[in-house]
Parts: sequence; C-alpha cells; structure tokens
Amino acid sequence: MSAVGWSRFQFAFTIIYHYLFPQLSMGLALLIVIFKARYLKTRDAIYNESARFWTRIFGINFAVGVVTGIPMEFQFGTNWAAFSNFAGGVIGMSLAMEGMFAFFAESSFLGILLFGEKRFGQKVHMFSAVMLFLGSWLSGYFIIVTNAFMQHPVGYAPGQNGALHLVNPIVYLLNPWALWEYSHNMVATVATASFVVCSVAAYYILAGMHVEHAKAFMKVAVVTGCIATLLQIFPTGDGQGKMMSRYQKPALAAMEGKFTTSTNAALAIMGQPNLQTGKIENAIEVPGILSYLAYGDFGAKVQGLDSFPKNMQPDNVELLYYSYHIMVGLGTLFILLMLVSAWQLRAGRLFRNRALLWVLMLSFPFPYIATTAGWMVAEIGRQPWVVYGLERTLAGASPTVSGGDVAFTTLGFCGLYTVVALLFAYMVMREIGRGPESSQTDIEVGAGAPASTL
Ligand code: HEM
Repeated sequence: MSAVGWSRFQFAFTIIYHYLFPQLSMGLALLIVIFKARYLKTRDAIYNESARFWTRIFGINFAVGVVTGIPMEFQFGTNWAAFSNFAGGVIGMSLAMEGMFAFFAESSFLGILLFGEKRFGQKVHMFSAVMLFLGSWLSGYFIIVTNAFMQHPVGYAPGQNGALHLVNPIVYLLNPWALWEYSHNMVATVATASFVVCSVAAYYILAGMHVEHAKAFMKVAVVTGCIATLLQIFPTGDGQGKMMSRYQKPALAAMEGKFTTSTNAALAIMGQPNLQTGKIENAIEVPGILSYLAYGDFGAKVQGLDSFPKNMQPDNVELLYYSYHIMVGLGTLFILLMLVSAWQLRAGRLFRNRALLWVLMLSFPFPYIATTAGWMVAEIGRQPWVVYGLERTLAGASPTVSGGDVAFTTLGFCGLYTVVALLFAYMVMREIGRGPESSQTDIEVGAGAPASTL
C-alpha cells in the first residue's frame, strides 16, 4: 500500500478507536446532569448514587479518550504535513480551543464531581455536572467545526504562499455544515449513552442486583433514548442529507447507490451496488423518495455518478453505500426498540419483560456501530478531497514519509490499543461489578439533607 493509503488507514483506525470513548462521555455527561437534577428535585438518594456511579464510568472513559486523542493531533504533523501547512492557519484555531476546553474545563469539573461533593456541597456538585456537560459538548463543537471546514470550507482566504488563512472566525465557527453535523453527532452521543445505561440496567435487573438503581437508570435512559433516536432521523439526519444534496452531490449519489441521473429518483432501501453494471442488484426501491428527501420535490432531478468525472467521485462507492445503509437501518431499529421499551415502561411491564431486557442488554454495541458507520459516510464521502474542493487527499500527505514508516507505527498502535482496550474493559467491568451502591459510604452530604444545606 502507498504512503497515503497507509496514512489514511492509520488515521481511520486510530480515530474510530478514539471516538468510541468521547461518544459515550459526551452523551453520559447529559445523563449525569439529569440524574443529579432528579436527585435535587426528589431527594431520592438512588438518583445521587446513579449520578456518582455514571461519573466514575465517565472518568474511566474520559481518561482513555484523552490518551487516544493525543496521537490524532500528532498525525497531522507526522503523516499529513502538507495538509497541516495548507489548512493549519484555519483549523489551528478550533483545535487549540478544543484542547483548552477538554483539558482545563472538563478535567477541573470532573475532579470536583468525582471528589468534591462532600467538601463543596450539593450546589457546587450540580454546577460541576452542568459545567462538565457544557465543557464536553463545547469541546465536541470545536472538533466538529474543524471537520465541517474540511467538508465545506468557509471563512478562509488563500495567502500568498498558497496556504489558507482564517479571515472570518464567526463565519468559520457558524459554518452551516457544522450546525447540522454537530446536532446529528450529539444526538448520536445521547443515543449511545442511553443504550449503554439501559444495557447495564437490564443486566442488573436480569441478575437481580442493584434493582432499584437499575430501575432509575432505565427510567431516565429510555426517555433520553426515545428522544435522541427520533431526532437522529429528523431533523438532524434529514438536514445532513440536504447539506450533501447541495454541497457534496457526488457523495450523495454514491451513498444512495445512484449511478444515473434522473428525475423522480428512487430511494434504494436495500440491494448491492454493482460498479461494473452501474446498477443496484436485488434492489428494493421506492420511486420519487430520493428526489423528495434531497430537494423536497418528488419529481426533482437528482444527479447520479454519471454526472461527475471519475476523479471527482468518492473512491470507495461500495463502502460508502453500505456504511450509509447500516447507519440508517440501525437508526430505524433503534427507534423501534426505544419506543417499545417506553411503551412497556409506561405500562409497568418493562422490568418483568425478560425478553426485552435481554434485547436491551445486548443492544449496546449497535449505537457504536451506527456512529462509526456515520463517520465513514462523512469521511469517505468527502474523498477525493481532504479539504473539499480545495486540496486533494493525495496532496495532503507528508512527502518524506514512506508507506513502511506508517505501516510500522500502525502496528505499534494496534498493539498499544489492544492493551488499552483490555485495561479499559477491566476497569469498567470492575465498576459495574461494584455497582452504584458502593458510593453510599460518602453519602452524608446526600440523602435527607435539609434543603437549606443545598
Ligand atoms: C436514522 C436515520 C439517519 C439518517 C437519515 C442519517 C443521515 C446522515 C447523513 C446524511 C450523514 C452524512 C453527513 C456527511 O457526509 O457529513 C450522517 C453522518 C453521521 N451519522 Fe447519521 N443518519 C441516521 C442515523 C444515524 C444513527 C442512528 C447514528 C448513530 C447512533 C448516526 C450517526 C452519524 C454520525 C456520527 C455521522 C458523522 C458525523 C456527521 O456527519 O454528523 N446516524 N448521517
């Protein structure tokens, strides 16, 4: 494989691995605020212990997220030096701000949340939960805004040496692509956290352990899960699709498996794209729907891959197509599962419905798969550009790094990340084994405290 091929593989591997962690922390940060707020409202200690339990899981997850995030920024310098020279004057701003928020705001408030409840009291504890949520969501925004610039560059001007400069930070920060990308991505984090919390709750109920806490987990996570999975499809998923139909037409054609331009374009719900014949095999299609989803008109013309020269099309149409269909297919199943769980919860049957509890317990990997598939859609769809329309991926790689160099460091990452995965799994399982009740010992400040002490 070429040096660029290896660099792309290394970035894809390390970022997919890295993003397994922030996607849970960011969603969990919102759920921790909800648990804490419910405790302050109801004075039911179960909710406070739930907040503490999930903060400990957050802490482990956050630490691994930070550790695996650092190599990402180094790769800009080692493997993507030409891209860094070209776009560093623009994206450096948001990446630096992310570092500041991630390290200073998030870590400080996480410290208070983990260790400061007794010392600072409930008001500061609640405030820290809110700040942790805001800090993690803000740092997420700075990363998304950086990616959005690569998808749809705005707020820049080319300098004399050909490199880009930031000329309008407000336009850059309010990139319309970023607003849709961010909202879609953040509801995905809430979906992931909701599924993980439901899964642990289902495990506890099935095993007859920590049942009261598990019920509290489930009540919160089924509601957040319902809202997040519905928002995933509309308006956020729909908004993302509309951005692509306006600014990344070849990517839209590839992910939908649309080979030829037509009006009244059909949406392929299933089928396998065949690049040789330019057709979807075994297709199940609904006429007019793609035209409607892309342009709000059943008869609108949708450009197929035949409208674009080969060197303007994404280089892996099949992977793009399948990633997109996996994401949307899973998204539809998530809505069904969450709605059924909400209905059973309301009917008072969820905690006795063992079949549904088993499904919920085993469901937690799937939001991770959907999120990974979503990012593959975004990143493969952007090809052959590293900065859309401005710099090709081939031109962004480091000129002096060989394929062998990158293959070697990739192997290093594989080994290191296996160890990290084992450590992470051990620490999380240990916390789950200990359960939420293990935080009862430092509860003096919590249950039953008169409102005046808050
Ligand atoms: C249910 C219907 C869904 C639709 C219509 C939809 C639509 C889209 C589209 C069009 C993109 C590509 C945007 C681009 O190229 O930048 C995208 C990306 C993405 N999707 Fe989905 N999606 C759906 C479900 C989901 C689900 C269930 C998840 C995860 C739980 C998810 C997570 C993501 C992520 C993380 C990205 C990459 C970041 C971004 O561009 O927002 N999506 N989605």
